[in-house]
Amino acid sequence: MPRAPQPVTKPQPETKPQADVKPQAEGRSRGGMKAAAAPAERKDALTITDHRTGKSYEIPIQEGTIRALDPRQTKTGPDDFGLMTYDPAFTNTASCRSRITMIDGDKGILNYRGYPIEQLAEQSTYLETAYLILFGELPTRAQYDEWVHNITHHTILHENIKKYIEGFRYDAHPMGMLVSTVAALSTFYKEASNIFDPASRRRQEYRLIAKMPTLAAFAYRYSVGQPYAYPDNELSYTANFLNMLFKMTEVKYRPHPVLERALDVLFILHADHEQNCSTNAMRSVGSSHVDPYSAVAAAVAALYGPLHGGANEMVLRMLGEIGSKERVPDYIRRVKEGQVRLMGFGHRVYKNYDPRARIIKQIADQVFEVMGPNPLLDIALELERIALQDDYFITRKLYPNVDFYSGLIYQSMKFPVEMFPVLFAIPRTVGWLAQWEEMLLDQEQKIARPRQIYTGPARRDYAPMDDRL
Ligand code: CMC
Repeated sequence: MPRAPQPVTKPQPETKPQADVKPQAEGRSRGGMKAAAAPAERKDALTITDHRTGKSYEIPIQEGTIRALDPRQTKTGPDDFGLMTYDPAFTNTASCRSRITMIDGDKGILNYRGYPIEQLAEQSTYLETAYLILFGELPTRAQYDEWVHNITHHTILHENIKKYIEGFRYDAHPMGMLVSTVAALSTFYKEASNIFDPASRRRQEYRLIAKMPTLAAFAYRYSVGQPYAYPDNELSYTANFLNMLFKMTEVKYRPHPVLERALDVLFILHADHEQNCSTNAMRSVGSSHVDPYSAVAAAVAALYGPLHGGANEMVLRMLGEIGSKERVPDYIRRVKEGQVRLMGFGHRVYKNYDPRARIIKQIADQVFEVMGPNPLLDIALELERIALQDDYFITRKLYPNVDFYSGLIYQSMKFPVEMFPVLFAIPRTVGWLAQWEEMLLDQEQKIARPRQIYTGPARRDYAPMDDRL
């Protein structure tokens, strides 16, 4: 059995920390940085002086971070709320402490639970990596077998889900269908709201990881007017997904082993990526203590956007629009003029080559060997070549990210472009769930609720309509 330790009920939240902020001497002459602390103390504290009052405050530094609540102690008087921090888009705010994924964006390093992504991509399988992400350790043989059994035996959907799917228009985007159908699952599993019951939580995790491929495949089969193909429990996680997508009249579907492995590795690469937009959505929505299906629906919705998981689809559309190698310089010009973005380039955290993109490039070669060359590859390579030597991209540290080459592989494997973000959502589900569980069991976490700086009108009185100018 999995060995993650789990309390039966949520531990009582502690009174909030941050108490250590000590106002120091009154008046500038007694306060400032110089006089604040001996050199030894200065190592893990920050002294700030509020020049409005002349008071100095010593703020503890822990793990390279100061608590955003600490500056609240700096007040100009009893009615003053205290200083807040302003960080639109969380560019310099750690919202949690996490043990799951580590990214060093400057060095281009990505580790899951300490294991380098390169080693996992080379030696692990998606389900083994999923176990690692959820439970924190690689499984023993017995743990792995039980895990695979549990995932495999939750792949079937309640038949009523098909009616939901059939309610969509024939050309509905599969991500839109996924957002809705995964949310609908919460109505089938009412016990899912018992989020502090570890056994119930675990069952929903199995269900979500197991049923996401089935939901995605059914949405696809509906969109192309084909009968649903039911899960085949003898196949691997990725082979079964391919089976549900592409099985026709054959009695037993067996994918090409190179394609099955390629998809498995792509799933490993997409399994988690610390506090990105969709994970933040998962944690934020989950912090209201809603059931995990509803929280995953929110995460899928966040992933759908073209700046996040929707980027792989946009890359393919962009390459199609460029059309030929000769037109690449013109496209680069438009990017530099700010008319368009180079999709699949840039990242909030990576300021170096995305390590996932490097691995994906190798897989692409293997897939093209089986499926034949992808004519868009030449355009992608030319875009990368020009971009990597252009000052615009160099100074902004814009490198190919995970989405730049993944779409080319998916296209060669005959996935329609609308399915690309879905192929991101399926493997990311385990990452969302691990982050959700970590958030729930973290005694410091509460309902996510940012502050704002109000910039609207001051109080004013309602005027009847006829009196308005
Ligand atoms: N093409 C052209 N210019 C860009 C790009 C790009 N793809 N990305 C960033 N820039 C420029 C941007 O215009 C800005 O320039 P300036 O300083 O002159 O205003 C500068 O680089 C910094 O960009 P930013 O928008 O402040 O950076 P961010 O950290 O907010 O955005 C990003 C990160 C991923 C949203 C962005 O790089 C982007 O839009 N990339 C294209 C979409 C994409 O590929 N998304 C997939 C991300 S990886 C998979 C995932 O985890 O979702």
